[in-house]
Amino acid sequence: MHELSRFALPAFLLFAGLAGCVETTTDTPNDDLSALPHDVHSYAKPAEARVTHVALNLNADFEAQQLVGTATLTIETAPDAEEIVLDIRDLAIEQITDTDGNELTFSTGDTDDLLGAPLTIELPSAANQIVVHYRTGEGADAVQWLNSEQTSSGAPFLFTQGQAILTRTWIPTQDSPGIRQTYEAEITVPEGLTAVMSAEGNSRDGEPTEDGRTTFRFRMDEPIPPYLIALAIGDLEFRELGPRSGVWAEPQVVEAAAYEFAEVEAMMDAAENLYGPYRWGRYDILVLPPSFPFGGMENPRLTFATPTILAGDRSLVSLIAHELAHSWSGNLVTNATWDDFWLNEGFTSYFENRIMEAVYGADYAAMLESLSRTGLDAELEELDEADTHLRLNLEGRDPDEGMTAIAYDKGAAFLFTVEEIVGRERFDTFLRGYFDAHAFRPMTTERFVAYMDAELFAGDAGLRARVDPEAWIYGPGLPENASEVTSEAFSRVEAQAEAFSNGTAPAELSTEEWTTHEWLHFLKSLPESLSSEQLAALDGAFGFTETGNSEVRFAWLRVAIRNRYEPAFASLEEFLTTQGRRKFILPLYTDLAASDWGRPIADRIYRDARPTYHAITFNSVDEVLGAPGAAE
Ligand code: BES
Ligand code: ZN
Repeated sequence: MHELSRFALPAFLLFAGLAGCVETTTDTPNDDLSALPHDVHSYAKPAEARVTHVALNLNADFEAQQLVGTATLTIETAPDAEEIVLDIRDLAIEQITDTDGNELTFSTGDTDDLLGAPLTIELPSAANQIVVHYRTGEGADAVQWLNSEQTSSGAPFLFTQGQAILTRTWIPTQDSPGIRQTYEAEITVPEGLTAVMSAEGNSRDGEPTEDGRTTFRFRMDEPIPPYLIALAIGDLEFRELGPRSGVWAEPQVVEAAAYEFAEVEAMMDAAENLYGPYRWGRYDILVLPPSFPFGGMENPRLTFATPTILAGDRSLVSLIAHELAHSWSGNLVTNATWDDFWLNEGFTSYFENRIMEAVYGADYAAMLESLSRTGLDAELEELDEADTHLRLNLEGRDPDEGMTAIAYDKGAAFLFTVEEIVGRERFDTFLRGYFDAHAFRPMTTERFVAYMDAELFAGDAGLRARVDPEAWIYGPGLPENASEVTSEAFSRVEAQAEAFSNGTAPAELSTEEWTTHEWLHFLKSLPESLSSEQLAALDGAFGFTETGNSEVRFAWLRVAIRNRYEPAFASLEEFLTTQGRRKFILPLYTDLAASDWGRPIADRIYRDARPTYHAITFNSVDEVLGAPGAAE
């Protein structure tokens, strides 16, 4: 499909020359346009022309399920640039003009299912702004429109999820993590609803419009990668948590959320002590409706979080430490391309653990590190060897495929290992300097290694050889020098799991004062195969089927499916139909689909549940169960 729209340019624009549109300030992000590595997941050619600022003016039409309006892009160009290339997917582009309303010529290239299409616009020569008039389409995978049955409040809800390459389904811009952009937005919503964004300006006080709607205004003055532009609209309330932190949620959820996240200010202090000042002003958390496809998303100033971490006992808040840590690793220093994803997630998983250690103590952090290592070991068994290098090659693939234990847990294991070899103090100083030196900049794996060589190894070849960065980054599996992970608490748990396997009744086991993490490790330490009697005894003693802790419930349901323990299946069905977090949903359907008896159960539940999931979740499940209507 090749669309071409041609509009005559006014003569004065044609002959005005380029002087007016070349902006060469030194403090703009990515000031060296040609230094950016090529991003295989974007059509943009930033060395020729790049977006530096996005101004959105959008109306959220809940009836049509469309965002409709304009994106005004500020552009910086190389001297001879005549056009700019944006990324779009499933967007209906109605018109593109300059800021005076003169139409500009544009064309849309062939559409790729994954990447969408390049939108090429002939630049007006006298101005550095263009206005794209557009609406989102049905395939806007970033956006989920929820009806009143899918929220606690009974009000409709909308949220976006941009990472990795979905921002282009709701904003026409250069959708590459190396191309940082400031933004502002005017969002108009139906009366009674509140819009919030990953920006400054979140408040319940919008401005009424003449037709009874409400407009909210936002601005993000720090340059951010476009995957961090995020919007949510719903019946939202706010509770303060600390001087610069708070929580947004639907009224029915906000008190529980405020209780759960009470320690966030302490986490911020711990994080700043480690790696320097928090640079984003406020840190608020938005609790989404249960269909949110991820655990958390580090949208700047406003982390988006799943309600499945509201356990009631603050036991799952390491996820908040993780998203907060991204305020440095990811949002301040950003993976330049998705092949460098470990620079975001590995650093963040390490940093998360350090925050947890500072706030909850070393024993607690050791349990978390051990769970991470166990998960890594399990995933290493499954992955193709080429996908176990830290530096990935995702060309032609969905960057989501990089979301494995490699980026997160092998990435963190590498940093734990470096810490062990060079010493904590030296490593902390190094990391603090790294975040400072590259703040608001993209980072490649190669540049990180060069920075390590210069600042950490500093010519000490012996030290470098002991770390052996190449083995970790370009080699498979877990290198031999990986630091040992030990948790005494978990050794005690293993002894109890062993005792159970050897016939001790569950009620006789020593499980006093176990936290969520001990329970998780216990469930993972159980033998592969268990009898119905054993499962019933465990469930009777510990109430796994009915637990309100989503992580424990998930781990238990996997044990239940593995052993066809039918008393847990009503709970399984409820879990699959009342939340849509992909990390829980996908493995459970996959486990069910692995057996002849389970497959029809999976198909039946999925048929009804699929429309309630976010596209990120159902696209993944479709790959296992098949899309509805697809040939068998
Ligand atoms: N940035 C990620 C989520 C993400 C990654 C979305 C890649 C899209 C593409 C976020 O910080 C994250 O890692 N979330 C985890 C929780 C974390 C505690 C490991 C999640 O959602 O499970
Ligand atoms: Zn993360």
